[in-house]
Amino acid sequence: MKKVKLTETVLRDAQQSLMATRLPYADYEGILSDMDKAGYYSIECWGGATFDSCLRYLGEDPWERLRNLRKNLPNTKLQMLLRGQNLLGYKHYHDDVVEKFIQLSIKNGIDVIRIFDALNDFRNITTALESTKKYATKNTIASGCISYTQSPVHTVEKYIEMCKELKNMGFDTICLKDMAGTMSPYEAEHLIKGIKDAIGDMTLILHTHCTTGMAYMTLTKAIESGIDVIDCAASCFSGGTSQPSTETMYYALKQYGIETGLDEDIINKVNNFFKPVKQKYIDNGQLNPKSLATDAQALVYKVPGGMLSNMIANLTDMHAMDKFDAALAEIPKVRADLGYPPLVTPLSQMVGNQAVTNVLVGERYKNISKEVKNYIKGEYGNPPAPIDEALSKKVLGDDQPVDCRIEDCKRTGEEFTDAKEKLGELCRSEEDIMSYICYPDQTVKFLKDRKAKEENEAVYTIEAM
Ligand code: CO
Repeated sequence: MKKVKLTETVLRDAQQSLMATRLPYADYEGILSDMDKAGYYSIECWGGATFDSCLRYLGEDPWERLRNLRKNLPNTKLQMLLRGQNLLGYKHYHDDVVEKFIQLSIKNGIDVIRIFDALNDFRNITTALESTKKYATKNTIASGCISYTQSPVHTVEKYIEMCKELKNMGFDTICLKDMAGTMSPYEAEHLIKGIKDAIGDMTLILHTHCTTGMAYMTLTKAIESGIDVIDCAASCFSGGTSQPSTETMYYALKQYGIETGLDEDIINKVNNFFKPVKQKYIDNGQLNPKSLATDAQALVYKVPGGMLSNMIANLTDMHAMDKFDAALAEIPKVRADLGYPPLVTPLSQMVGNQAVTNVLVGERYKNISKEVKNYIKGEYGNPPAPIDEALSKKVLGDDQPVDCRIEDCKRTGEEFTDAKEKLGELCRSEEDIMSYICYPDQTVKFLKDRKAKEENEAVYTIEAM
């Protein structure tokens, strides 16, 4: 019998796409023991923006969240999304930091590490892959991930080449990451048949979003074309900028006689659990119903869900929502100027912020962010196509772009020791150091709050004695 497995994304991408990753662990702890019996291929629950959000907004230690997930999901593969050499931050870290981060992720409970580079510059995922292999347990899966986008330089042949390269590099599985939900059924069919022919029986995964309304059709074609795993979210957290619905795909596949291994009662129970959770965030405004709508404009703008909801949040904060359409229209122009980078973290933020700046300032590239300058200098990797000459000249002058595998990445020791020294007595573990390296300000604040809380509790205990 034909089999297609499902990854459940409600704990990571679904809530990241719909409500800017503001879902605290306490809100879903109560359903984990059920989720553990659902029969998912994996549960995507960590990495991406969850790490930042834990420290910045939720007052949670992301490592503690991971250990709790592991404890309550002993029988399910726990999956994270990792931005290659950027880890979960926005810059290139040293190789030893990448290695340590992966060692600790596996040690604290991660099984599947989905590794991507925003530019598909595979030099940027090599260290992460080697580290995953080095610390792998029998459950570890290194998944090589391609940032899918459309542009004059992103052809089917090009993607097939990329998949062959990922296979040769030694990845266990390959994932096509259609973060903007712009992959059409036609494209899925040609792409997946071509890739399957090229990589044989290696597991191929499709990650897409409902943003443009094409996802269900695309998944259907992907399944007909031989996809092995698809990413879905519990139905109340599905649709809009999130993934297609788990239960819906389960029922559809069942009639085709395709086995998913899912337990029907449990996936329905999981969804029922999340219904009031979702309502709470609609009521308090953190889940903007705009994210739940279908917006075919994304087929023009190629804007991923998370980027869209962040842009709405930023413009709302700045009382500039009247500039929303203009900023959205500026995105593809900035993208073309920058050599068609796929719009995925950190490029999605960089392109999005630059587009918003261009519109708010009223003059294109009058202000250029530090990140965009560094991108143009070559610090993020090779752009898929050449950068606009005038823009490049404005930033580089007569300088040449640098090699992204700059000596910096190969230097070891400094970032780690430096972070340890700066944290001083606030630091209790290597995990704290890793949090600091990724998000220094947020981590210092979080660790100070943790210390203050414990001191208060200690005083209270003494007084109560
Ligand atoms: Co996604």
